[in-house]
This record gives sequence, structure tokens and C-alpha cells, in this order.
Amino acid sequence: MSALRHNFGVLQTHLGPDVTICAVVKCNAYGHGVEECAPALQQAGAKWFGVTSTDEGIVLRQAGVTGRILVMCGLFAGEEEEAVRNSLTPAVFRLEDAKALAQAAARLRLNRKIPVHLKIDTGMGRLGLPLAELETFADGVKRLPQVALEGVFSHLASSEVVDDEGTARQIERFNAALGRLAAHGLRPPLRHLANSGAVGARPNTWHNFVRPGLALYGYEQQWCHRDGSPATDVPALPLKQVLAWKTHIIGVRDVPAGQALGYSGAYVTAAPARIAVVSVGYGDGLSRKVSIHAGIPATPADIEPALGRGEVLLRGQRAPMVGRISMDLTLVDVTHVSAAAIGDEVVLIGRSGHQHITAWDLARSSDTVVYETLCNLSKRVPRRHVE
Ligand SMILES: Cc1ncc(COP(=O)(O)O)c(C=O)c1O
Repeated sequence: MSALRHNFGVLQTHLGPDVTICAVVKCNAYGHGVEECAPALQQAGAKWFGVTSTDEGIVLRQAGVTGRILVMCGLFAGEEEEAVRNSLTPAVFRLEDAKALAQAAARLRLNRKIPVHLKIDTGMGRLGLPLAELETFADGVKRLPQVALEGVFSHLASSEVVDDEGTARQIERFNAALGRLAAHGLRPPLRHLANSGAVGARPNTWHNFVRPGLALYGYEQQWCHRDGSPATDVPALPLKQVLAWKTHIIGVRDVPAGQALGYSGAYVTAAPARIAVVSVGYGDGLSRKVSIHAGIPATPADIEPALGRGEVLLRGQRAPMVGRISMDLTLVDVTHVSAAAIGDEVVLIGRSGHQHITAWDLARSSDTVVYETLCNLSKRVPRRHVE
């Protein structure tokens, strides 16, 4: 928890006092446990929180968050009153969204305006008002006295690619859109474009409000150039990785050469081995992809490719996962860790002795990005929040 609060402080110092951080805590605070993380961030000074949905916003309110909550993917039709009752601030993408809120305000006889943030599509091609519809939206929203356009925002598709032309175009389009809204008399006080990548490397996207998620949890982007080569000139922020993922050995067995292990017998030992049975599986969020390789049936030719790409740490040493990851169990070859025993701590993300596996490492061995690895940590994994 101290690492999380530290990271918030690092970002605020980096951004300066005039930029408001909207702490993105969607998807259970990127798997870290939102009911503990959001209040801790509030304690560290966060005044705004970014969530995906009304449901996530309500969870924050129930956890005692009193700050502003931006529902970044907007509301499902029919959720307007609930959102208003919980003082959630919805993103809107269409004039219809704003009208539905105005109607809810009338039904609730609100004597204040409902603040909304307009999301515009500057090039991500996903959610957001198309730029061609900006003026129609502006004219329409001005006619809704119950709705206040508090913010305008957009999302960057490739902020970690330092020389990305698409990002430069997105920034230009966003600035042009602010000008077009101003020409219609709309000057939303909060303007935001920056996710973690842009917070790290693109001060020209900060305006007065930013929406970092990943950086809060201690991860830098994998900065790169357009051609895919790593970019080494982005100054690193002194962030601390917040989360460790640990479990235990619940079985150890010595097996002979030629022993098929786990589902489909997809891994066959080439030599006598000591195998630890570890209490973790895809039901906990460990991707089965770390063990996807040679198919069925297992033959001696499968032995090499059947070695999973993933590793764990135990007793300060690295040990490979072998065989298929199953729902609850994972097999680890601990032949070289002769003292390995039932009850030993096994680290999937974190440190053991001088060894370190980061969530990025685990993501790479699962063919994915760190975001997915963190968000996939399932409900079944108990979170322990410690200083
Ligand atoms: C709209 C929006 N803003 C901000 C973020 C935070 O992004 P990051 O975790 O890269 O900082 C996300 C995450 O996907 C997002 O969808």
C-alpha cells in the first residue's frame, strides 16, 4: 500500500500541482483490490477516480470513496438515476446520452446540473463522438440546462511508441476539437488525453487532467520506436511495483525419465526429475498460454517444446513450469532445488532472494501484456494489503 501511495506522489510531483490525476482503478484496480486501493489513493491525495461502469463506481462509493468518479465507458441505458444518486460522473459519446441524463435530472427534480465528460474519437476508432459530429453535439448540449459539459477527453492508441505519427495526429485533432467547442462557446474546464504512457513521455498531452492507471501500480511502459526498437531516452520515473503474487508447494514427487505429467501428458520427463505441485492454475488467472506448445499425443519429440515458457521463484531460484497449466494446479520442475518441500513459498510475480519476476515477465511468457496479466488475477486469489 505504501508503494501505491508512493507512486501517486511520484506522478503528482512529475506532473506538477496544476494537473489533476484521475486515478484509474477500473477492473478491481488492475487486479490489486479496489476496495483497499481506492481509499489508499484517496489518502495519498487523489481527488478523481476512473472506472469502467456504474457498477464499479458504486463499489468505490461503498468502499468510502468520496472523491469524484468518472465512468469512462459511460452508462448503460436506464442507469442514469443510479449514477446520479451515487454522484458518478458519466462519460458521454452521443447527444442521446446527454439527453437521457437530462431526463433523469428532471425525473429526480435535481436542482443542480449533472456534470458530464464528452469523449471524442481522435483516432483510436473505438468509443467516442466522431469529430464530424462535434458541432451538432455542441448545439444540442447547450440546449440541455440540466447537463454541464465539465470535461472533454480522448484516449491515445499508442502513447508508448515515442515517434508514433498516429499519436501526433490524435493530439492535433484533440486540440482542434477544443478550439471548435470554444467557437461554440463551450470551454469545458477539464481537458484530458493522457494515460500512463503519455504521463511519462508527453507533457503536451497533459492539459490540466490526466488518467494514469498502470503507472500507479508501478509499471513503466515498454517504450519503443515505430520500427519496434526499444526507446531508451524516456526518463524512468521512480515507481515501485505494488503487487506480488505468491502461492505454495502442496506436493513434491520424484519421477523417472519418460513420465508424462499433467493433462494430455503434454510434458514427458527426459530424465529423472523432482516435480513440485503448486497451488495455482488458470482459475486463479495464470494463463494456460504459458504451457501451450506441442499437442497431443505426447511423444519423445514433444519433450523440448512441452517445456512451458513460464518460470516461478522458490528458495531464491528460478524453476520452470512444466506440462499444461490446469485450473487449480501447476507443475514445476524443482530437480535443481533439492530442498524444495511442501509448504514452500512459490513466487509468480515478485522477489525471492536475488531473483525477480515482474508482471511484465509473466505477461510475456503468456503472450500478452501486463494489463491482462494483472486484470486476470481472479477473485479466488486472496488479496492481502500490507504496508
Ligand atoms: C479511457 C482510459 N483512460 C485511461 C486509461 C489508463 O491507461 P493506462 O493504464 O495505460 O495508464 C485507460 C485504460 O485502458 C482507459 O481506457
